Amino acid sequence: MLVIRNIGELFVGDGRSIRNASLRIENGRILDFGEDGEEHLDARGGAVIPGLIDSHTHLVFAGNRSEEFVMRAKGMSYLEIANAGGGISRTVEAVRKASLEELVELALPRLQRMLSYGVTTVEVKSGYGLTVVDEIKMLLAVRKLQELRSVELVPTYLGAHTIPPEYRDRREAYVDLVVSDELMGRVAAEGLAEFVDVFCEESAFTVEESRRILEAGKKRGLGPRIHADQITQMGASRLAAEVGCVSADHLERIDEGGIAALRSAGVIAGLLPGCSFYLGVAQAPARRLLNSGVPVAFATNYNPGSSMVESLPLVLSIACTQMRVTPSEALVGATATAAAALRREKRLGRIETGMDADLVVLDVPTVDEWLSEVGRSSVRTVLKRGRVVHESPRS
Ligand code: NIG
Repeated sequence: MLVIRNIGELFVGDGRSIRNASLRIENGRILDFGEDGEEHLDARGGAVIPGLIDSHTHLVFAGNRSEEFVMRAKGMSYLEIANAGGGISRTVEAVRKASLEELVELALPRLQRMLSYGVTTVEVKSGYGLTVVDEIKMLLAVRKLQELRSVELVPTYLGAHTIPPEYRDRREAYVDLVVSDELMGRVAAEGLAEFVDVFCEESAFTVEESRRILEAGKKRGLGPRIHADQITQMGASRLAAEVGCVSADHLERIDEGGIAALRSAGVIAGLLPGCSFYLGVAQAPARRLLNSGVPVAFATNYNPGSSMVESLPLVLSIACTQMRVTPSEALVGATATAAAALRREKRLGRIETGMDADLVVLDVPTVDEWLSEVGRSSVRTVLKRGRVVHESPRS
């Protein structure tokens, strides 16, 4: 048994906090909040929170697009850069050239840094391969990373990230490939992904193409999720509701009808404040979504083009400063609600008897103090299923 004692604030994960608590862990699961045992970990007055869950990332990629960062600084938009030959296609070129081993090598230090910020679960999308071989290669890289690191990985099949150049004049044929037995069938049969995702956008897939892909994924047992209302308003949130997506992500351009549709269908809004921050565009309406009763998850959207932001705590601080979200609401969005967005709410995201003991000990006493210190890593110790998997060198 492991006991964490002397906790400043115990952030339970549903908005409740307990002061001066101690916590008992047995066989990797939360036992209760209570008495001391033989082994103990002294929180030294620091807050203890559920392990953070990054529910939207493109962690596996090759190449570098820093020149796009400079182009944007000079005034070009994300879409203008994509139309000029940059964007997702640039990363596709680099990923196709990279071996599986290279993709793993590149992703490992990223994952290690995420862990050091307190992240214990990460969703990872394919979507930079866009051929049978390269999409499978990306998902096999995720599987390999899972063997090497204790952060829990949740793979998502995003064959529908963009139409690859060789299919530009044959988009229907590409959608056929995305849903084919050869690709989607293999991904599902070999358990290479849990979810299917689509970038529903003028520059990527139409609403009807997205519907076809998501419905095909559902039939094969993949949970549907969608990139919706990011750059243009095409009714993607309404599609998310109709298909029964687990989450609709981005939503920078969502309208009132879209918000109502998400609420009535119980779709989680996956917001990505670091992405708008990185691109210098307006944030999604987090406050309006929360006030309307839509559950909101916050994630990094870590990727080489629109969000080179690895730190989920930084993203949560951005949510507080740019979206009028409280630290407590932000943290629920990266724990309990993020767990639901990955269909892991019975096991992850809250500190409760029987839940996995994925925990982070901070070196500050409260969540408010943690997120108000923007960009400083206050993480002292990270536990995955009750085992210490990271300790800050300072502690
Ligand atoms: O979520 N929007 C689509 N996909 C990513 C961008 C990926 C890229 O630019 O490489 C996103 O922002």
